[in-house]
Amino acid sequence: MSSRKFFVGGNFKMNGTIKSIKAIVENLNQSNLDQNVEVVVAPPSLYLLLVRDHLKPQIEVAAQNVYDQPDGAFTGEISAHQLSDSNITWTILGHSERRTLLGESDAVVSSKTKYSINQGLGVIWCCGETLEQRESNQTVAVVTGQLAALKEALGTDAAAWSKIVVAYEPIWAIGTGKVATTEQAQDVHAAIRGWLKENVSPAVAEATRILYGGSVNDKNCKDLAKQADIDGFLVGGASLKPAFVDIVNCHL
Ligand code: PGA
Repeated sequence: MSSRKFFVGGNFKMNGTIKSIKAIVENLNQSNLDQNVEVVVAPPSLYLLLVRDHLKPQIEVAAQNVYDQPDGAFTGEISAHQLSDSNITWTILGHSERRTLLGESDAVVSSKTKYSINQGLGVIWCCGETLEQRESNQTVAVVTGQLAALKEALGTDAAAWSKIVVAYEPIWAIGTGKVATTEQAQDVHAAIRGWLKENVSPAVAEATRILYGGSVNDKNCKDLAKQADIDGFLVGGASLKPAFVDIVNCHL
């Protein structure tokens, strides 16, 4: 067993209503969650405070995006400072839905990540390849390229990297019901850890949690969780369902 604390994030994406999100919060509050797992949920920004106000303190709350500037004239954006002020302690960044649909480049993601960390937020930093890239054996090159852009912003500072959780999410597995095999996931996770060891430091490689994301559910989570380099999950669709609790409790 590694000393890394298992981490399960729930990414609600652009889903939910006041009513349904209150029901999710209620269900989490009433559940016995494995105390050895760090749980963070990311509702749409409109509901961040609703969730923070009602959710038990054991569970932290994440935004799904943040802007990399101090408060000011940036219509439609939310600042890291405003998140901290609201006790929202994490943000997701670099999700493929923002990289591909909204055109967020490596440079933008890296800048937002650096800014957020400097403001004291934790970052669930996402990376992953398309089906085409996997089929042409570019998976590791793509993911380490994304990591290299992050390192360009953060350097090798262990304190900065300690605020990051890496989420490996093959794009072809997101929302498709087509989960990566345990072997496919473990191989990429090991490659990510190897890259961190070579390019950041052995200590950072050892300490960094690497999550798997992409069609994780209560059925497939147990086998994935047994892999040496899988330190948790980033869960989309299933985080909206009661079975999210079973994913958090996958070791029990
Ligand atoms: P999914 O989404 O679990 O619905 O595949 C995962 C994610 O995009 O974070």
